[in-house]
Amino acid sequence: MHTLTVELAERSYPIHIAPGLLQRPELLRQHLASQSVAIVTNTTVAPLYLDVLCQSLAALAITPLVVVLPDGEAHKNWQTLNQIFDALLAAHCERRTTLIALGGGVVGDMGGFAAACYQRGMPFIQVPTTLLAQVDSSVGGKTAINHPLGKNMIGAFYQPSLVLADIATLRTLPDRELSAGLAEVIKYGLIRDLDFVDWLERHMPALCRRDEALLEEAVYRSCRHKAEIVAADEREQGERALLNLGHTFGHAIETGLGYGEWLHGEAVAAGTMMAAVLSARLGWLAAEDVRRIEALITAAGLPVRGPRLGAERYLELMRHDKKVQDGRLRLVLLAAVGRAVVSDAAPETEIRAAIEACCA
Ligand code: NAD
Ligand code: GLY
Repeated sequence: MHTLTVELAERSYPIHIAPGLLQRPELLRQHLASQSVAIVTNTTVAPLYLDVLCQSLAALAITPLVVVLPDGEAHKNWQTLNQIFDALLAAHCERRTTLIALGGGVVGDMGGFAAACYQRGMPFIQVPTTLLAQVDSSVGGKTAINHPLGKNMIGAFYQPSLVLADIATLRTLPDRELSAGLAEVIKYGLIRDLDFVDWLERHMPALCRRDEALLEEAVYRSCRHKAEIVAADEREQGERALLNLGHTFGHAIETGLGYGEWLHGEAVAAGTMMAAVLSARLGWLAAEDVRRIEALITAAGLPVRGPRLGAERYLELMRHDKKVQDGRLRLVLLAAVGRAVVSDAAPETEIRAAIEACCA
């Protein structure tokens, strides 16, 4: 088992990574504030993994409340969030009830936001079951729901007390979702780890074939980056913004098409290409670097072109980005493969041109 710690003083917490962790009640025990537990999951994950988690809790003499949400990004909203509050209140859950989010990033983001709000904060554990959630969304405490005008616009920073990434759950993940998770894995290499880019180029076919040892290594290396960045900049005052490579363009795709049309990871992949092409237009990347990034994204089974929303519509949607400061758009761009920067230097004409060049 790989174990990392997100170092946040008294709010530090472990990330455990290995196959079979759902069957390890001893890993949960010390992180439960009481015998009262609520599991938040969804209609797809519940039939796959709820029983095994409940069996582990039964070994600790715990019978959890179970809240099963509808599946999908389109349900990451107030109405669904309220279902969690309704269930917690109806079952008389207390401030010391521990909420366990069992599922992908949508369940994790909504479960985390519910935990941040319920009675002003209840203990929270992430059990991510998608690659994307294991490498990114379960770590770092960003929780949110979507608004029709913008992705993840309503939310809170709220750290879990434990992350259990059971690699065996990836066996049932659809291929398209596996690829979506690889978009966030590639991101860590591009923003800060050239050696990881080389590693991913070598192992991408085997990762796509779900070689479990390599997947575990990819989750571990990704979480190591995320844990370092979050420890240094929990509230995204600086370095953490680099984790948004491709996301300003990508969120425009997700909001512009309607939530759930493109997967988050797919939108991030096409957005990463837009950021790479823009970086080349500014003279920061060579054409060869852009081809290298395109080849890696393609090898992961991800799109390198965005939908034709029109550059103006992209820009309108991108102006809702959380990195906007004093009305100025700030983008994560690449100064080199393996080195990202946040910059407001790109003129809108260049941003438009990069978007147009990267639309199907
Ligand atoms: P998701 O939660 O929608 O999961 C993808 C699909 O896989 C869903 O249908 C889900 O039910 C299903 N699924 C989950 N686990 C499965 C398994 N083991 N086997 C079979 N099917 C399974 O999507 P996601 O890609 O995990 O997460 C995307 C969300 O995460 C977006 O809303 C995005 O905004 C958010 N996100 C948050 C952060 C953060 O820091 N909080 C970071 C990145 C992304
Ligand atoms: N996924 C971006 C972040 O956690 O900051």
